Amino acid sequence: DDLGVVAVGFSGGQTKAGVDAAPMALIEAGIIQQLEEDLEYKVTYDGQVHNFSEILPAEDPPYRNMKQPKFCSAVTKEVSEQVYKYAKDGKLVLTLGGDHSIAIGTISGTARAIRERFSRELAVIWVDAHADINTPETSESGNIHGMPVAFLTGLATEDRPEVFGWLEPHHRLSTTKLVYIGLRDIDKGEKKILKEHGIKAFSMHDIDRHGIGKVMDMALGWIGRDTPIHLSFDVDALDPMWAPSTGTPVRGGLTLREGDFIAECVAETGSLIALDLVEVNPSLDELGASDTVRAGCSIVRCALGDTLL
Ligand code: ARG
Ligand code: MN
Ligand code: MN
Ligand code: MN
Repeated sequence: DDLGVVAVGFSGGQTKAGVDAAPMALIEAGIIQQLEEDLEYKVTYDGQVHNFSEILPAEDPPYRNMKQPKFCSAVTKEVSEQVYKYAKDGKLVLTLGGDHSIAIGTISGTARAIRERFSRELAVIWVDAHADINTPETSESGNIHGMPVAFLTGLATEDRPEVFGWLEPHHRLSTTKLVYIGLRDIDKGEKKILKEHGIKAFSMHDIDRHGIGKVMDMALGWIGRDTPIHLSFDVDALDPMWAPSTGTPVRGGLTLREGDFIAECVAETGSLIALDLVEVNPSLDELGASDTVRAGCSIVRCALGDTLL
């Protein structure tokens, strides 16, 4: 199978340095080699971790409460084009982040490609401690990594092309095609949005009640068979015991096996068309960084079809 890899060393969707170093850390840990040798993918990768310094705007003041709006917009637009090209080509797309704002690029790229290739709508499984569905107005932090789902679903819109105005209807995702897994830290404004729009979400409470097996059955049942799936995996969905090196850790999360299991279930559908792995920050918690990188590599391998037996 053909796999396109995009390495996005971007940290501008939040304020902690280091998440830009994750793609290199994951690659140095051997992730691409494992996909080629163990899982026999034909990998297309330009060998570069893009840091986008060449498109860093001279000035980028907050706008509608968003921090670094122009830079985030420009970077995600480039990512969108790259992911679109791979997906349009029929390649499975693996994007190594970077903070979660980059999903504005990855998901808009696959949504557009899937529309053109199959006249179909994309489904997204968003695995995260957070819902990342703040609008610029509901956000308490102004960090764009807490807003990607709002822009992708059109709950947040903007006319200025240099501030996400480039997002058009063909880039968007329907709120009915979105499923969350692992939520446990939702802002007040986000709760209201999830409720008002009836967005499907399986919180840690649901996982405790039903078990991860039943939750995956329900999540995949909601999406339905033969729907192309984009899996966006924020490593902070895992409990900090397993993935401490991340910018916004929240205790009470998924075990390592639950994370891998989610990825394995998505792989089993045969409908995965793209995977994001985001928010690994190797510079936070020196002791735990190698654990977090290893957990990230494991999730990628599981989602891309590594099986236990
Ligand atoms: N809800 C918070 C915010 O809007 C935290 C978001 C964390 N997002 C993430 N991708 N880690 O800032
Ligand atoms: Mn996230
Ligand atoms: Mn998160
Ligand atoms: Mn476009």
